[in-house]
Amino acid sequence: MRVILLGAPGAGKGTQCKRIVDKYGLLHLSSGDILRQERAAGTELGRKSQSYMDSGGLVPDEVIVEMMAGAINKAPQSGFVLDGFPRTVEQAVELDESLASAGKKIDVVVNLKIADEEIAVRMAGRRSCPECGAVYHIENLKPKVEGKCDKDGTELIQRPDDSLEVVKNRLKTYYEQTEPVVDYYKNNGTVYDINSGKSADKVSELVFEYLDALVEA
Ligand code: AP5
Ligand code: MG
Repeated sequence: MRVILLGAPGAGKGTQCKRIVDKYGLLHLSSGDILRQERAAGTELGRKSQSYMDSGGLVPDEVIVEMMAGAINKAPQSGFVLDGFPRTVEQAVELDESLASAGKKIDVVVNLKIADEEIAVRMAGRRSCPECGAVYHIENLKPKVEGKCDKDGTELIQRPDDSLEVVKNRLKTYYEQTEPVVDYYKNNGTVYDINSGKSADKVSELVFEYLDALVEA
């Protein structure tokens, strides 16, 4: 199964992807997580991406498309779930062409919808594991031990691009460049809109309903 999760910053893409991979055995491919790993490792790709990420803009398409094509090629037969990619219509077109040349396609696009006011609350309280990418919230989705990742015990961090100013820019970038990707897929496949303003468990329930139907078909 090949799935894309779309949604604004803070919509819950990372949170839901972790649950999807646990249930369906897919590979989680988060472009943001891969970029943060490249930065932590001090690679050239990481250095090139730094200024775009820190300002809330997008890393250039050609850099991202090459990076994600490499990651997708290594995905298992069971499939993958894409988180944060594609983020421009150009990226979506490149992705679809590259899958088509291998006789494959995206099976479903899940679009997590969230109000702007809720995004600010989620970003301010988010804590992330720099090791495995697990996501927590200081009020809504607390780790078992404060400040530590449930999975590997790593000290949780606050992402530097979660400051109010950068979040504003990320939202602007989202509306200008990423929202058109939703329409692109509405014209080229199946998109399920989900109200992501509910609890994380409720959102998972709705996502699983769609994916279960796909698995059973
Ligand atoms: P990326 O890491 O993808 O950031 P993003 O899209 O802004 O999304 P976030 O990770 O902030 O939000 P999320 O939807 O995953 O929400 P989460 O589950 O964490 O990208 C970072 C940067 O990299 C970009 O700005 C860009 O520069 C670059 N980049 C990445 N991909 C690129 C691409 N394809 N092209 C070009 N550049 C690219 O949840 C948020 C918080 O809410 C958490 O605290 C969570 O615990 C909480 N929460 C989640 N769900 C719920 C719920 N239902 N109820 C209550 N709380 C919840
Ligand atoms: Mg994320």
